[in-house]
Amino acid sequence: MMVRMDQLIRAIGVSLDMVEGDLFGVCTNHGKRVAVLCAAMGRRLGMDEASIAGLAACALFHDSALTEYLQYKSDPKNKAGLYLHCIYGQRNVDLLPMACDVSGFVLYHHERADGTGGFGRKEGEFPLGAALIAAADVLDQANRLQSVPRSNLEKLRARVAAESGRAFTRSAAEAMCGALAGDTLEQLRDEHIRDTVERMIPPWFVGVEDAAVFRLAALTARIIDYKSRFTGQHSTQIANRAWLMGGVCNYEPVHRAQLYLAAALHDLGKLSTPLSILEKPGSLTDEEFAVIKEHVRGTHDLLVDVDGFGDICTWAAAHHEKLDGSGYPFGKSAGDLDFNGRLLACLDIYQGVSETRPYHASRGHKETMEILDGMACRGLVDGDIVREMDRCMAEYSDRQLPPPPPASEAVDAVLGGLPRPLPGPLKR
Ligand SMILES: [Fe+2]
Ligand SMILES: [Fe+2]
Ligand SMILES: [Fe+2]
Ligand SMILES: [Fe+2]
Repeated sequence: MMVRMDQLIRAIGVSLDMVEGDLFGVCTNHGKRVAVLCAAMGRRLGMDEASIAGLAACALFHDSALTEYLQYKSDPKNKAGLYLHCIYGQRNVDLLPMACDVSGFVLYHHERADGTGGFGRKEGEFPLGAALIAAADVLDQANRLQSVPRSNLEKLRARVAAESGRAFTRSAAEAMCGALAGDTLEQLRDEHIRDTVERMIPPWFVGVEDAAVFRLAALTARIIDYKSRFTGQHSTQIANRAWLMGGVCNYEPVHRAQLYLAAALHDLGKLSTPLSILEKPGSLTDEEFAVIKEHVRGTHDLLVDVDGFGDICTWAAAHHEKLDGSGYPFGKSAGDLDFNGRLLACLDIYQGVSETRPYHASRGHKETMEILDGMACRGLVDGDIVREMDRCMAEYSDRQLPPPPPASEAVDAVLGGLPRPLPGPLKR
C-alpha cells in the first residue's frame, strides 16, 4: 500500500501553520506559501524535481520545532533562544529520507546575505535551499502575501530587489523577482493555495511500512506532544501502545503500520487548539469544551486528503467516539466503529487518565483500568478490548514503551538525547 508522502507532509505543515498563528499571529497557510514560492524559485534556478520535492518539504517544515522550542523558552519573542528552533527544525527534516541533500536548509533559514542573521553566516556560507526558504519566509511574513493585490506586484519586486545582498542572497532575490510575475499573487491566496500546492509540488510516493512514514509519524507525535507541557508524551505513548497491541493481535505488517500511524497522528488537530484552553486550570466552559472537541474534526479534515490514508484517517478520527453514540465528533455508534477505532478510543482514555492534567493527577494501571471497566459496563467502550489491555498494559503502565523499530532507529538516535520537557506544577 502506497502513501502520498508530500500530501502527508503538507497536512502536518498545515497544522504547524496553525501553531504559528496561535503563538505568533503568523498569517494562515504560511508554510504552504513558502513551499510554493520555493518551488517556483527552484524551477527558475533549474533544480530537478527531486530537489524541488526536498526543498518544498523543508519549506513546509521550516518552523516545525516551534512547539519544542517553547518548552525551553517561555518568551517567544526572545530572539537569541528563537534560533534553537532552527537547530531542532533541521534535526526534524534530517529524519525524513529525502531524494536530495537538504543539509542546512532549515538550520540556516534565518540567515541574511549580509551576515546579520542568527548564525552570522554571509551569502555563500549557507546553502541555496536555506537562502530560498529565508527569502520566501521573510517576504510572506512582512507582506502578508495572502491579501496583496496584483497592482502591488511591481512594488513587491522592487522591495525584493532592494534587499538583494542585504536580507536576501543575490540568487534568491533574482529568482524571487522572476517568480513574482503574472498571477502568482492570486495563486497564493487562501482560496487558491491548496490547488496551487498540488500543482507546484511534485508527488512523492512511499510504502505505508516505509521507515520514512514511521519517522514522520513519530516526529509529528512529538511535535503535538510538545505543544502543551501536560501532553508531554501522550501521542508518542499511544502510538507505542498501539504498536504493542498490533503485535498482540498478530496483525500483518501493513495493518500494524496503519494502526501505529493512526495512533501517532490521532491528535493532529490539537495543534490548532489554543494553548490557553489546553492548559486552562480547572473546568472548561461549554464554549471552551466545544473548541477542544473540534480537534478531532481537525485531525479528520487534515488526514482525509492524504492518498492511502483512508482507514488511518477513520481510526484516528474515532478516538473520542463512544459505542452508545454519545461521543464526538460524528456521534458514531457500535455499528459504525470497527476494532481499531474502538481500540484507539480505549488507548486514548488509558493514556489520558494515567497522565497529569490541569484537572487531575496521574493514576496507576489498576485505577485506570477501574475507570475503563466502568465505562465498558456503561456500554461506552469495548469490554473485550479493555480486558485485553488489562492483560497487556500492566507491565508498561508507568514507563515509556519501546517505539517500533522503523521509527526508533532514527528518531531516538537523533531526538532521544534531547532533554524531555518536564510538566510544571499544577496551577489552581
Ligand atoms: Fe523560523
Ligand atoms: Fe516562517
Ligand atoms: Fe483527542
Ligand atoms: Fe489523545
